[in-house]
Amino acid sequence: MWPLKKREPEETAALRRRMEEVASRHGPWTGHNIRLADGLYTIRDEVMGLGLRARRFLQCAADIVGKPFDQMRVLDLACCEGYYAIEFGLKGARAVGIEGRDVHVERAEFVRREFGLDNVEFHVGDVRDLSRERHGEFDVVLCAGILYHLDAPDVFRFVESIGEVCTRLAIFDTHVSAGGEVAHTYKGRTYHGSDFREHDDAAAREQRLANPWASLDTPKSFWPNRRSLYNMIDAAGFTSVLECHLPAGFEPDDRIVLMGIKGAPVRVEATHPGFNDIPRGWPDPK
Ligand SMILES: C[S@@+](CC[C@H](N)C(=O)[O-])C[C@H]1O[C@@H](n2cnc3c(N)ncnc32)[C@H](O)[C@@H]1O
Repeated sequence: MWPLKKREPEETAALRRRMEEVASRHGPWTGHNIRLADGLYTIRDEVMGLGLRARRFLQCAADIVGKPFDQMRVLDLACCEGYYAIEFGLKGARAVGIEGRDVHVERAEFVRREFGLDNVEFHVGDVRDLSRERHGEFDVVLCAGILYHLDAPDVFRFVESIGEVCTRLAIFDTHVSAGGEVAHTYKGRTYHGSDFREHDDAAAREQRLANPWASLDTPKSFWPNRRSLYNMIDAAGFTSVLECHLPAGFEPDDRIVLMGIKGAPVRVEATHPGFNDIPRGWPDPK
């Protein structure tokens, strides 16, 4: 499915005016550079980073999920201006984007309408309210750029809820801490990492919302270190956690892309049976 139909110059000009009207009402696009027509982009006509991330997510989903895109249900958490959900939607997947800032959703909705994607939905919502009861189940859950905006214990509950709604693949694109000076215990397991300041404690709600890519409210977030993050994904019911190295992305050293895969736990047979009783997670995630 490819919606970029050939447009006459006056059609493209009219589309540009509609885009500018959305931007004047809700603010300009902040990061998701989407190609609306030949030479017309939501931000600018150049190669920008998020296309690399989208290529990774689509490739990993195609390689791991084991069904064609048009049979996948995809959830894009904290979807911002909706680019990843749109890409999956263009491949025929049924995609749902949830985003806390309504202005991002207005911009995402504009693109969805212009592309005529009836298989994509965007909703204003807080990802901390995610549950199977409210949102259903998904073959693919994209957790991109959101984990590091949540504080403890929300971040633990949130990963747990991803495990609840995901039937096959959850993609975690996130910063991790290199340290372990802060520890939290949740449901009997201890996780280590660092605190990260998001907003000034005194900042008003409006000031917090005005920073378009930050947490909605919480003044600081908790970044788990690598092993603690693996353990969080393990505790959420995923049987394998793999790191994506190809296709390449453009991550700084503290950012990783992990694939949580839901499968059936296997047993080892030709060794001491005690190995089957050893917990799957890392014993010391410090
Ligand atoms: C760093 S941006 C990442 C956007 C997008 N997922 C991506 O990877 O390009 C963080 C996004 O999370 C949204 N956000 C932050 N806290 C949220 C929450 N509790 N619920 C829903 N959205 C939230 C922000 O509004 C922003 O759009």
